[in-house]
Amino acid sequence: MSKRTLPVLGKQATFKIALAFLPVALTVALVVGLLQMRSSNGLPPIGGIGGPFKLVDQRGKTVTDKDYLGKPTLVFFGFTFCPDVCPTTLYELTTQLKDLGSAADRLNILFITVDPERDTPEQLALYLSSFDPRITGLSGTSAEIASVMQEYRAFAKKVPLEGGGYTMDHSASIYMMNAKGQFVGLMNYQEPETTMRAKLKRLLDDGATS
Ligand code: NI
Repeated sequence: MSKRTLPVLGKQATFKIALAFLPVALTVALVVGLLQMRSSNGLPPIGGIGGPFKLVDQRGKTVTDKDYLGKPTLVFFGFTFCPDVCPTTLYELTTQLKDLGSAADRLNILFITVDPERDTPEQLALYLSSFDPRITGLSGTSAEIASVMQEYRAFAKKVPLEGGGYTMDHSASIYMMNAKGQFVGLMNYQEPETTMRAKLKRLLDDGATS
């Protein structure tokens, strides 16, 4: 009886295979390197999110997207009757803005209501008085709000409450727009404070060079 040899790869074969994959490995390394270089030269804009709008701020002034060009902008959708996501986010933003100090003056922060029925400019003014005064509240007609939400691909849904009234389910991310009004990335809900700070700093640096 002869012993059958198992098809175990010899050292030489292993080396040949490694050699065959070398170009792939080098290409991957090159691409990763290029992407890192690119990202260190400012945040690349991502198409398809954001667009023109006409709304009313909490002082009753009609504003458009053009009023916020020239500075980077944070855009956040929510509503003043929100029990958790909105107050948490606005509180976190207020903390960040306080830490940034006067550097935060080079930033627009827009809180756009998804509940224009209840969030009149007066209601927004009252609600936002608890947070950093640099946060702007925006409202509008139902059609104007639906339009801006569609442009930002933001989500909101009315949910009836037991015993009457309603709440809103809504998307919780913060959109980061550069000084040209181009979308460059998101901050997620309850992102760690240090990550949020790093993203804000990068957005501000980006605004300074564009
Ligand atoms: Ni909310």
